Amino acid sequence: MQLRLGLPHPTQVREGMILLPGFALKRQKELLASLQDILAKAPPSVRLTPGGRSMGARMSGCGTWVWHTDRKGYRYVECDPQTGRKWPEMPGVFCDLAQKAALECGFFPFEPDGCLINVYDPGIGMSLHQDINEEDFSHPIVSVSLGLPTHFLVGGQKRLDSVRKVWVQHGDVIVFGGVARCLFHGVEKIGDGIHPDLGACRVNLTFRRAKRV
Ligand code: SIN
Ligand code: FE2
Repeated sequence: MQLRLGLPHPTQVREGMILLPGFALKRQKELLASLQDILAKAPPSVRLTPGGRSMGARMSGCGTWVWHTDRKGYRYVECDPQTGRKWPEMPGVFCDLAQKAALECGFFPFEPDGCLINVYDPGIGMSLHQDINEEDFSHPIVSVSLGLPTHFLVGGQKRLDSVRKVWVQHGDVIVFGGVARCLFHGVEKIGDGIHPDLGACRVNLTFRRAKRV
């Protein structure tokens, strides 16, 4: 377990994007138990881009709608393509954490209808992209970092805008909404290491509202 005494205060990364250091640590035991339960029911697996390339991070999820990609394109799906079953329900502790984080940053209401779970092994990252497959951009995105640390990459509204690096570690939460909702973002390659709770990987939970309320 990581002890972080005197957690730093929320920090504005860009207008509309806030880092909440250690925000997910309070209920981490419950959070991690729920995460392991979901990953057992819906094991993370490699996705293909529409162009046929393998995505680096393995993916799973929970809730009603989970983001998916394959040769047919980017979209939200109600069933896990690996198992053919509906995604596991979103645990109360997940939804509660996401809503509290959004509220802390002034985003209300936030009703996530799914959570994408990305699992990164050392050497894996995610290139700059925008989250724009959702129907409704009025809800923010809540991104929870667990396991090994890395730099979260934050660009602007255009792909070539300058990129800022934000160090994110176990328990940190980033919320982006409003003018920051469609900012380019990505993840630097994860370095080697072993996290006491999650082993040799980083896990990211991304909460979004995919469909209109
Ligand atoms: C994502 O943008 O889908 C993932 C971000 C992260 O892993 O921090
Ligand atoms: Fe994203």
